Amino acid sequence: MKTLQVSLGERSYPIFIGSALLGRPGLLSPYIAGRQIMVVSNETIAPLYMERLLSGLDGCRCGKVVLPDGEEYKNLDVLQRIFDALLEARFARDAILVALGGGVIGDMAGFAAACYQRGIDFIQVPTTLLAQVDSSVGGKTGVNHPLGKNMIGAFHQPRCVLIDTETLDTLEDRQLHAGIAEVIKYGLIRDAEFFAWLERNMDALLARDKEAVAYAIERSCRNKAAIVAADEREKGQRALLNLGHTFGHAIETGMGYGNWLHGEAVAAGMCMAAEMSRRLGWLGAGDVRRIIDLIGRAGLPVQAPSALSRERFLSLMAVDKKVQSGRLRLVLLEAIGRAVICGDFDSDILAGTLDACRGES
Ligand code: NAD
Ligand code: GLY
Repeated sequence: MKTLQVSLGERSYPIFIGSALLGRPGLLSPYIAGRQIMVVSNETIAPLYMERLLSGLDGCRCGKVVLPDGEEYKNLDVLQRIFDALLEARFARDAILVALGGGVIGDMAGFAAACYQRGIDFIQVPTTLLAQVDSSVGGKTGVNHPLGKNMIGAFHQPRCVLIDTETLDTLEDRQLHAGIAEVIKYGLIRDAEFFAWLERNMDALLARDKEAVAYAIERSCRNKAAIVAADEREKGQRALLNLGHTFGHAIETGMGYGNWLHGEAVAAGMCMAAEMSRRLGWLGAGDVRRIIDLIGRAGLPVQAPSALSRERFLSLMAVDKKVQSGRLRLVLLEAIGRAVICGDFDSDILAGTLDACRGES
């Protein structure tokens, strides 16, 4: 087992990464001893992993909330079910939530923990690659609004993150690919060496080679932990983690939550950010080609859906958390491994990028 640390003063916490960690006695004891525990999961993951998780929490009083599965259920109505369960079980302020699932469950359980009785502890047990490399680390929690992705939420750090790489054995290929999008993101924004490693090892990742997958998770988490430690509340460099996300969130919202997976939308969005960076004269055509090739090799879309018109895209992109004083800010690339946030660009270049990068339906 590897242990990384997210260094945030008194809110610091460990990320445990290894195989067969779920149910390992004692691993979570320091965080849960003597407490009321509510495990939040969904109807796909609970039958696969709930019992294994609970076997490691022997002797604790555990409740369960099993939510419907899907991005379309990541909303305030469904969130209410977590509060219902906590109140019906008379859970108090010293209770702890455990999120067992992908990014949807992690974001929702984390937000419930941030709100319940003005804030209780929670633990992340991510079971998708995307959640293991990104959403479980860093404390961004929340739900979607019909008008915008992740628009209602809070920063609330978990007490620890438990990554059992064996849970990926049951993950569908499409979901694995979606997670690889966020892995590639770290290479693009700050780790050119990792990007080159991914170019050499993409086939191994797609073949689920255990060593390659474990390495990709660890290196991604190291990158994420470093960024979060430096800028927990996204006053600066944390925004770079949103490479491809302004385009991507517009795709997810515009196409209807759940139709394009988050990772797929981010993949197409990163290709759009690369193309826009080329049009601004920052990135060479050869680098754009490398980016599109790697994302395509990962089985991910490299273009946005043609169903979204340029006007619709622009209106969806205007609802973005990086908008400041009405000005849209985008994460763009100066090189592979060097991202920047940019609010001062020619709007014709954005419009041209949107026209050039829409293809797939
Ligand atoms: P998800 O949570 O919807 O999970 C994808 C699918 O895989 C679901 O059907 C789920 O039930 C299933 N699943 C999960 N684990 C499984 C397993 N081990 N075996 C079989 N099936 C399994 O999607 P996701 O890609 O994990 O997360 C996407 C969400 O994360 C989006 O809502 C996105 O906004 C959010 N996100 C948040 C952050 C953050 O910093 N908080 C970062 C990135 C993404
Ligand atoms: N996934 C973006 C962030 O954590 O900031």
